[in-house]
Amino acid sequence: MKVLVVDAGGRGNAIAHAFSRSDKVEKVYVAPGNAGSEFFPKCEQVKEVPSIRAIEDIVKFAKKADVDLVYIGPEEPLSLGIVDRLEEEGIPAVGPKKEATILEASKCWCKDFLRRIGVPIPEYRNFDDPEEAKEFVREWYESGKGNVVVKADGLAAGKGVFVCDSLDEALFAIDEIMVRKRFGRAGERIVIEERLYGVEVAFTAISDGKTVKPFGHAKDYKRAFDPDDIDGMREFYIGFMRKFITKEEAERLYREGKLLNPNTGGMGAVSPHPKVDDEIERKIMELVVEPVIDNFRRVEGKVFKGVLYPVIMLVEEEGEIVPKVLEINVRDCDPGAEAKLPRLETDMAELALAVIEGELEDVEVKFSPDYCVAVCAVSGALKGREGLKPGYPADHYTSQPIEGIEEAMKIATIYANGIAKPNGYVTTGGRVLTVVGRGRTLEEAREKAYSALSKIRFPGMRYRRTIGLPDVPD
Ligand code: AMP
Ligand code: GLY
Repeated sequence: MKVLVVDAGGRGNAIAHAFSRSDKVEKVYVAPGNAGSEFFPKCEQVKEVPSIRAIEDIVKFAKKADVDLVYIGPEEPLSLGIVDRLEEEGIPAVGPKKEATILEASKCWCKDFLRRIGVPIPEYRNFDDPEEAKEFVREWYESGKGNVVVKADGLAAGKGVFVCDSLDEALFAIDEIMVRKRFGRAGERIVIEERLYGVEVAFTAISDGKTVKPFGHAKDYKRAFDPDDIDGMREFYIGFMRKFITKEEAERLYREGKLLNPNTGGMGAVSPHPKVDDEIERKIMELVVEPVIDNFRRVEGKVFKGVLYPVIMLVEEEGEIVPKVLEINVRDCDPGAEAKLPRLETDMAELALAVIEGELEDVEVKFSPDYCVAVCAVSGALKGREGLKPGYPADHYTSQPIEGIEEAMKIATIYANGIAKPNGYVTTGGRVLTVVGRGRTLEEAREKAYSALSKIRFPGMRYRRTIGLPDVPD
């Protein structure tokens, strides 16, 4: 079998690696992939596809290479209708059709849908008028209901969510999204919802449209810095604000909770999620995943085929753990997939074919009980020709030479997020490498990941040191 994986980053390389472990698979193409796509046997980067958005180039390549199936990683090509286009050409694909991507592409629609079908969610309201939204949050804060989260309705590359600590922050978020239109049309509408506190889970399930099965879960670390990394946050602050602050000032800002620790697309992940047992998994399937897939088909007349990734907050209510949905994604998580997929024991090709053919019921989706700890090495603060740049998730330098990848590979699995190989390896993005350690215990997996990371060097390299430690905030 020949497989084409569509993705540019670490998640795509983890998917390709999973396919490469199947005896049925002779070749795995990754489009556009990156230089790290070729770390694994049978895998080849497709350089003639310029980006994940180049739908027609992808279709053309799939036909030319005569692939048996296409597996799509990111939401963008899915919401552009890549699955519809491939199927028109008679090429089977794993991923939802365009009409089914509304679950992720409109947060307002998704919340209304979840409420209608009785899935547990935070209290929320949708707005298309900034003044009404501001009035609502003023009343919310006056009545002492706690904090809110403000979200742009549409796709904003993970940046359209403002988790607020005060009324001022909520008003700022509304202005950013609706008045200054930071996310363009994605911000024409917003959701304002109750901020929940609890255990967050990156939960995934896979469906052929009829049957849906758990597809592993992870704890996703989103903050750019470890909670006590004052030096790191200070450098970021100086680079971001273009304003020098002394160590003493940084410490004061830190104590006042004013030193920035921005949210990112992910700095690391642990799978399985240490707080999710069989009972909680069952609860999430029964209360969230199954109703979503069933009602989507029965009530909305839309079939969901592919990977469903609800972001869940486990909250305690009257002594019971309730899984509340923060959002739904129509694809696998990143870097959660890098921590989950090395543990997949089911043959990836068999699983993909079962999804395509509607025979998922007959396949057992099985994961190893081992732990995987995935740590992202990112392009951090660096002084160069254009002065000091703060680093990921803000502005960063690229084209920095990377050393030590081969050494690190002897200890851990490496999924490249953003690298090229003009001669030696160089950085091309904010997230650069995701290093995945594996072990019988979480501690062993952590030790492997960090020991491999210690072999890798590039100018500005930064990573969190607390991934997988118990009770560290994510
Ligand atoms: P989302 O894109 O909706 O998953 O939001 C991104 C991140 O914001 C989530 O992973 C959470 O960490 C946080 N978040 C979103 N909604 C809420 C909420 N209602 N309460 C607390 N945190 C939230
Ligand atoms: N790591 C968050 C996401 O994949 O959406």
